[in-house]
Amino acid sequence: MAPIEVFGAHYRSGELWVEGVRLGEVAEKFGTPTFVYSRAALTKAYRQLDEAVGHARSGRPYTICYAVKANSNLAVLNTLARLGAGFDIVSGGELTRVLRAGGEASKVVFSGLGKTAREIAFALKAGIKCFNVESESELLRLNEIAISLGLRAPVALRVNPDVDAKTHPYISTGLKNNKFGIAFDRARAIYRSAAAMLGVKVVGVDCHIGSQLTDATPLVEAMGKIVALADQLAADGIEIHHICPGGGIGVTYENETPIDLTTYAAALERAIGGRSAELLLEPGRAIVGNAGLLLSRVEYVKLGDHKNFLIIDAAMNDLIRPALYQAHHEIVAVRQNSSRGGTEFDVVGPVCESADVLGYSRKLSASAGDLIAVLSAGAYGFVMSSNYNTRPRSAEVMVDGDGVHIVRERETVDNLLSGEHLLP
Ligand code: LLP
Repeated sequence: MAPIEVFGAHYRSGELWVEGVRLGEVAEKFGTPTFVYSRAALTKAYRQLDEAVGHARSGRPYTICYAVKANSNLAVLNTLARLGAGFDIVSGGELTRVLRAGGEASKVVFSGLGKTAREIAFALKAGIKCFNVESESELLRLNEIAISLGLRAPVALRVNPDVDAKTHPYISTGLKNNKFGIAFDRARAIYRSAAAMLGVKVVGVDCHIGSQLTDATPLVEAMGKIVALADQLAADGIEIHHICPGGGIGVTYENETPIDLTTYAAALERAIGGRSAELLLEPGRAIVGNAGLLLSRVEYVKLGDHKNFLIIDAAMNDLIRPALYQAHHEIVAVRQNSSRGGTEFDVVGPVCESADVLGYSRKLSASAGDLIAVLSAGAYGFVMSSNYNTRPRSAEVMVDGDGVHIVRERETVDNLLSGEHLLP
């Protein structure tokens, strides 16, 4: 399915709609650029995974811990919390978001390789489900802090299974030379020392090999490795309550065939086999990637001998994925205009960087003042946006049936300057 269909956007009377809302109306009400999410698309993506895993399991408990980093808007988190999701966080800030959005601490796992003492204490006191520990030094710190608070930290080691995710090098994390995780051949020894610590309780095994995978083979291979590790730990008398192969399930940006969730869930179930461990997943992109678009207006059309440029009011500071990963996002005109044939444009933003291109060589029928939509912008879109060129960050809205709700107001320049001071 094309991204536009996955999102549930459709043309009606020549204009693009999301659920029961016309995108032109969104632009009139909230301006541009604006990230537009669809509650229906978000819910559908979550349910598809939930049903696939739920169907595959043989009575085994499981928790889908949505990776908050993909899109941490409170309304997104709240929508997922209401659907029963757990959360995978990587900072104290993300934990605050989850709690404010009505998420349960007991369903939160804390990933990331640089947890500060303050973040650890906060998460311990909140009573999270598990710390995914990424180094021996982190384990020691966690143990000390837990003892000082009279608590016991539930831990899994995030092991590095040395499996090639075969995705973009910037989002590949499971190989030996990555900074993430604990080397596989060191894991068993570190688990033994963890098991002897008074401030720590070993509860799980975790890994995450990369993002935007469109072939499940490496994920299943990594799962096989961590299940084998869990068996070795059981032989050492260390009981493992949950096993987690991380996130990484890819989505369709252009024409990729995404991982079949039913097949993937069945493969995970086969890997765990008769063991009683709970299955945890940490998907981010698969839940939100195609549940959002970036709505933007054309400022100028610049025609040239060699190239034509569509200069829009969204830029790399709003959506950095094309500039950072050479990522492809489909771009469509909001108003269908069949009388004009399309022109080939590089769709660019106003930022003073040659990398500020949202899409190369796109055939579009659009002129100054028209609206366009950059698709599949729900994951790693707004969350990675910046204020480069003193550009206030976009508004975020969520469509729900016939209604559209502002879920984050557009920043103002005053917001940006508020913390800055002149010298005395
Ligand atoms: N778990 C851990 C430990 C992670 O580091 C990540 C993502 C996830 C889960 C969720 O992965 P997902 O299901 O979304 O693939 N900014 C990049 C993606 C960075 C992913 C970082 N880690 C992008 O825009 O493609």
